Amino acid sequence: WPRTSSRTEGALTVGGIDVRDLAAEHGTPLYVLDEADVRSRMRDYATAFSGSEVHYAGKAFLCKEIVRWLRDEGLGLDVASGGELAVALSVGFPPERITLHGNNKSIAELTRAVEAGVGHIVVDSHEEIARLGYLAEQLGRRPRVMIRVTTGVEAHTHEFIATAHDDQKFGLSLNTGAAAEAVRRILALPQLELVGLHSHIGSQIVDTAGFEVAARRLAGLLVKIKDEHGVVLPELDLGGGYGIAYVEGDEAPDIKELADGLREIVAKVCTDAGLPVPKLTVEPGRTIVGPGGITLYEVGTVKDVEGMRTYVSVDGGMSDNVRTALYGAEYTAVLASRASDAPPMLSRLVGKHCESGDIVIRDFYLPADLAPGDLIAVAATGAYCRSLASNYNYLPRPAVVAVADGASRVIVRGETEDDLLRGQL
Ligand code: LLP
Repeated sequence: WPRTSSRTEGALTVGGIDVRDLAAEHGTPLYVLDEADVRSRMRDYATAFSGSEVHYAGKAFLCKEIVRWLRDEGLGLDVASGGELAVALSVGFPPERITLHGNNKSIAELTRAVEAGVGHIVVDSHEEIARLGYLAEQLGRRPRVMIRVTTGVEAHTHEFIATAHDDQKFGLSLNTGAAAEAVRRILALPQLELVGLHSHIGSQIVDTAGFEVAARRLAGLLVKIKDEHGVVLPELDLGGGYGIAYVEGDEAPDIKELADGLREIVAKVCTDAGLPVPKLTVEPGRTIVGPGGITLYEVGTVKDVEGMRTYVSVDGGMSDNVRTALYGAEYTAVLASRASDAPPMLSRLVGKHCESGDIVIRDFYLPADLAPGDLIAVAATGAYCRSLASNYNYLPRPAVVAVADGASRVIVRGETEDDLLRGQL
């Protein structure tokens, strides 16, 4: 739950505001983001990784206001598309603090990034190296690039969000020599400045051993590059992917310990080989915005399926949180608008979409006196919920409000029916 949330007079409050007031003012479903929580996590990262760079991964949740918070707190930003880049540039975020990612960046995206002068472009294929080299020459610029290296680490997470084993679309393999070949190709192009190597092994990873193995392998490649080419690359970007607690009993890595561990490993490999210690960058997304977000829903129907469980239907569902349907993700939720002494009933929180897989929480307990009109709050929805939201069944995507010091303000407007019809001929 968000750091500023508490229970007063039976109802949940976040940022000093009663969720009943939030629902009355902004409607439901509603994404609520605890500004103090998110900013404090940005600061925690900046402190734990002081001397390194922290680039927030915008795919977790990006909007203009988040970019302003990043700018205030001194973080950088990782973008994965021209659209994400446009959000950052629209509020004047310093381009040199932006990294552009993607396994299939378009010419338009690459051009915009080079013209804007982004700090880093992470190249993901041999084709892209040639493409970017050509573009750089045309534009008369010398972009700073990194190579996305597939380190062969098997991350223990859902298959769809594990990214460092060889058999997947991202990166250039350390094992097959594709990464070494990328180094040769970039060094042969004077219009590109090779500044470092990048690795991202997956997401929602709780066991930090995988990050350490990847960091060691990446640092090892730095040493090899020095030996083979006499070139010392000054930077390593270790990606993101650190897990958060979604349900009770979930563990989450300690950021300070993680930072110290990664720094130590890289320093050791490099110093042993007589190399200067490179500047490190990390790209956390979920750990920054995830815990500080909740989703508020209003209960519409409560259906007891004899001998099974009670289906509690709310006014949103897989269009505002697809993670349960997509990854079998787990969440927890509470009756948020009042206290209840009723006994617990086994419940399934479901949405209003025409699909039986439209489940937000598979099995958990809600009070047996739950009734239409009650408000449910789902915890830890700040990351990968609004950013993965859809308009399935023509549901408008909910507003995002930031709460702080007893006040709420809309940072992303909720969609209207006009928004849904716009663009149709
Ligand atoms: N850097 C790169 C290159 C990435 O691909 C990602 C995530 C991150 C950083 C940030 O990872 P984080 O710290 O947020 O775990 N939609 C999935 C997660 C996909 C993550 C994709 N890349 C989910 O909802 O779990």
